[in-house]
Amino acid sequence: MKGIILAGGYGTRLQPLTSAVNKQLLPVYNKPMIYYPLSMLMLAGIRDILVIGMPSELPRFENLLGDGSRWGLRFEYAPQEEPRGLADAFLIGRDFLAGGPACLILGDNIFFGRGLSTTLQDCARIDSGAVVFAYAVKDPRRYGVIEFDPSGRALSLEEKPEKPRSHYAVPGIYFYDSTVVSRAARLKPSARGELEITDLNASYLEDGSLRVEVLGRGVAWLDAGTHESLLSAANFVHAVEERQGMMISCPEEIAFRQGFIKAEHLARLLTEMSDNEYARYLRDVLEDS
Ligand code: G1P
Repeated sequence: MKGIILAGGYGTRLQPLTSAVNKQLLPVYNKPMIYYPLSMLMLAGIRDILVIGMPSELPRFENLLGDGSRWGLRFEYAPQEEPRGLADAFLIGRDFLAGGPACLILGDNIFFGRGLSTTLQDCARIDSGAVVFAYAVKDPRRYGVIEFDPSGRALSLEEKPEKPRSHYAVPGIYFYDSTVVSRAARLKPSARGELEITDLNASYLEDGSLRVEVLGRGVAWLDAGTHESLLSAANFVHAVEERQGMMISCPEEIAFRQGFIKAEHLARLLTEMSDNEYARYLRDVLEDS
């Protein structure tokens, strides 16, 4: 399965921060925001990744991430000329996907928790239908909202409803089979003029081919799209890392532990890094292995 990171948009809610720096490159404590969604794809075992961003911002992403070989990955980059909605990622990524299945993750979504990588690896093996997640939040009105019947079967999906039918938001990571591009191509823009991911998910729901996995208490899902949530995300990462001495979403570590790169490769990366906390952490990872 291939992966797409959608890192577009103007980041207007984060101005003036985003007047200087692209949203997905802003720091979340000690790493650029995009490292977090990238790490989720890596944990799912996905190594072929398309990064979609505004044309003016793509060189900055390329500058940070390169061609991926550093982490045993392969990156491609593609522009989204205007924010035309999340489902547009599949039209932009049509050639990249080459008729295969896809995982889409939003560049400002951060996940952390027990059992997550097993869940992600399991989802990445789907060969038909789609998998989305459901996560209870206090204010679901900001999100896509999913409603269940008493037996836990998904009943409806709504994008940013005034009156949510449940507390379950749909986080910004989605797994789709190879019909995703043709489904995206059939979508009509919504009232706000966007190709909505919620409409794409609804097309699977209508077919009876949408699987919904509830992410429970042990999992943190944070989005970093507002000043408040950006700070909360940074504080969360800081608190966990300080306490446990383990990094959240460190691509070098994940690449090494997943076997995408060997010890010699990690050692070589270390020689290229300055002697700072990040490098010292990776040196410990290498020595403990
Ligand atoms: C998007 C989706 C929404 C989803 C959310 C997750 O909203 O449209 O369905 O729940 O991402 O972060 P946005 O944050 O782009 O407004």
